[in-house]
Amino acid sequence: MKKHIAVLAGDGIGPEIVDQALKVMKAIETKYGHEFVFTPALMGACAIDACGNPYPEETHDLCMKSDAVLFGAIGDPKYDQDPKARIRPEQGLLAMRKKLGLYANIRPVSAFKSLVHKSPLKPELVDGADFVVLRELTGGIYFGEPRGRSENGTTAFDTCVYTRDEIIRIARLAFEYARKRKGKLTAVDKANILATSRLWRETIQELHSEYPDVELEFMFVDNAAMQLITWPKRFDVVVTENLFGDILTDEASVITGSLGLLPSASVGVHTSVFEPIHGSYPQAKGKNIANPLGTILSAALMCEYALGMPAEAEMIRMACQASMESGVVTVDIAEGTPSSTSEVGDWIARYILKA
Ligand code: IPM
Ligand code: MG
Repeated sequence: MKKHIAVLAGDGIGPEIVDQALKVMKAIETKYGHEFVFTPALMGACAIDACGNPYPEETHDLCMKSDAVLFGAIGDPKYDQDPKARIRPEQGLLAMRKKLGLYANIRPVSAFKSLVHKSPLKPELVDGADFVVLRELTGGIYFGEPRGRSENGTTAFDTCVYTRDEIIRIARLAFEYARKRKGKLTAVDKANILATSRLWRETIQELHSEYPDVELEFMFVDNAAMQLITWPKRFDVVVTENLFGDILTDEASVITGSLGLLPSASVGVHTSVFEPIHGSYPQAKGKNIANPLGTILSAALMCEYALGMPAEAEMIRMACQASMESGVVTVDIAEGTPSSTSEVGDWIARYILKA
């Protein structure tokens, strides 16, 4: 098959981890006789430096006409340390999510057998944990208006907004997911406090009548934060709003042993985007030490969700698994001598070609 893939490496460790995913995709291309056309484009701090816009029009046009977008990371310490900066790299990511209509961010969390001892949680809690978080991605406090400062600058405000339709489309996806998995859905909210959460609860309760075979429970977000690390195996599919999903999935990543391992797929109206859940990790930039597995596993999600290549996706997952079992892993999860970012990418690409 011929497929067009937009490659937005972004900032920090983005370029080095995306390079590894590209090596792996090229191995898939050779092994399965596909033709992948990779086109790079700017986004994030590097795009601000180049043209003053963190999500330039050309990048958006490229994303719109591609079959999938592979994305690394964005962010730069010079902006993190300057809360007054008016143009910020993160605005590029938010603009991309909004303009591509990516309302659902799918974040699968599963413990890898060979890494169970790496988790800060007890092995018996982690072994067998396997759930997926569906995070709403284009609404809530990330986008709500009004936002800003009072005239004298001493008060700041953000607004959390959700419409019924925004809740229905992500909740529907979550019910469908639960149906395909173990049939259990946990809807996380703060309905004891927030009006938006009460609309979430009411809407999901109503929608449940269309999915009577799915077991539905509601959980307050503070409780969910606690249960995620005390009893992760109780979860199957979790659906939640934008900010709660952001926070809970970083927390959930420790179950697997490293934030560097978690992939994600953002899907919705236009082209889907595939990206690791971690950030730009500026301290590691250019050092060839960052874990590329979150990005390589995102490429597997891309094969499965956007390219119609489930066997290729499985092959990538198997190769990642094999690299972990063989101890060819980066410093964050290594037992003995760690491998570099590029060594892990080379090993996985070679494994695929030989398999
Ligand atoms: C994520 C990230 C982003 C978010 C940042 C980089 C804006 O943390 O994808 O989880 O908050 O959504
Ligand atoms: Mg986050």
